[in-house]
Amino acid sequence: MSKMKEIGVAVLGFGTVGAGVVETLLENGGLLAERLGLRLVLRGVADLDIQTDRGVKVDPALLTTDGAALIARPDVDVVVELIGGTGVAKTFILQALKLGKPVVTANKKLLAEHGEEIHRMAEEHKTEILFEASVGGGIPIIKALREGLCANRIESIYGILNGTCNYILTRMEEEKLPFDEVLKAAQAAGYAEAEPSLDIDGHDTAHKAAVLASLAYGCNVPLDKVRTTGIRGLAAADIAYAADMGYRIKLLAIIQGGADGVEVSVQPTLVEHGHQLAAVSGVFNAVLVKGDVVGTTLYYGRGAGRAATASAVVADLADAALNLRAGGRRRDLSAVHARTPVVFREPGEIVARHYLRFSMKDQPGTLARVATVLGGHRIGIDSVMQKEAPKNAEYVPVIIVTGPAKEREMASALAEIAAMAGVADRPTVIYRIEDFE
Ligand code: HSE
Repeated sequence: MSKMKEIGVAVLGFGTVGAGVVETLLENGGLLAERLGLRLVLRGVADLDIQTDRGVKVDPALLTTDGAALIARPDVDVVVELIGGTGVAKTFILQALKLGKPVVTANKKLLAEHGEEIHRMAEEHKTEILFEASVGGGIPIIKALREGLCANRIESIYGILNGTCNYILTRMEEEKLPFDEVLKAAQAAGYAEAEPSLDIDGHDTAHKAAVLASLAYGCNVPLDKVRTTGIRGLAAADIAYAADMGYRIKLLAIIQGGADGVEVSVQPTLVEHGHQLAAVSGVFNAVLVKGDVVGTTLYYGRGAGRAATASAVVADLADAALNLRAGGRRRDLSAVHARTPVVFREPGEIVARHYLRFSMKDQPGTLARVATVLGGHRIGIDSVMQKEAPKNAEYVPVIIVTGPAKEREMASALAEIAAMAGVADRPTVIYRIEDFE
């Protein structure tokens, strides 16, 4: 019997996900060999810290602090980058690609910030970069977009892509707790980072949105084209008022393509209670993709964590190994980058319905004055809600759900209202409502 072909694997970064990948290779290596007809063999794991016990039985001889030397070894065929960030991770990825070795990464920040350079390097050296684990953890959304849906023009993608934010929003709604308290509890439970900005200010979702949009539209998506608002400071009151009006607030990545260009944005968004995305709770992720041929498809699962992310990384390793055996490589983004550059939609031209919360002077005629300004900007009103005011309250919360209007009109109407005397004592809270057609 001929010996089964071996594909040598180097893992850079022995943190949570790195340990998960090593564990999966050790535990499911036999199953993978059966399925692939080749063996993924771990040649080494590089990390600056090779002393800490990672909870996996790995031969100590495989551990090294010298990532560059590991990448260069002739028996290493594929490199897995799980260091994160844009420093040494980028250096190692470029080194591997220059050697013609395929790279598997989970690094959305690096792809979002330097994707074009990395894809070009892969193209130049006739190899590939695979990044299933960069978006949606264990959900195979990259494969779905690249392969399963390749016959479609992508009309829209809506994603709940950050487990930390979704966990915080879910607890705020279910337990009627303020943002700061839930964030602290999430940090104590290990669901949120000690430095939570990347997650709660929407940057992590923006990186993932940029990766998805670049796949959907075959273009580079600079991060400054991704309008990003996170959930920091979102008021529990707005979650409750939105619920009263039949909506949940979700941090959504919104990617839409039309004749007037592409929108890529991240923002807290009202989603109708009955919609599938409204039902995604806790740390789970979901992505809704609409293609012109297939219609709407939905992907759901764990968007982070050791095992889910390892599942995606090892799937990419399997692809890279099969492609190496076939002597070819998968089409990659750089080829699509050559297409006509995409036009990004002018934010002011984006049409949406909105949730507005005014802190409105409790005096006859105020609501009528506000409605007149909105009407003057051709903004219709779909519904209005005012809770009975506490005794002697001078200003009361009034919620207005608007009809569809251009953001430009909405911004100038709100500026006009803010400038009026005796209407509101603080800036109006505004969130987009997504109707998913
Ligand atoms: N920090 C991310 C999240 C996981 O909370 O979903 C890594 O992408």
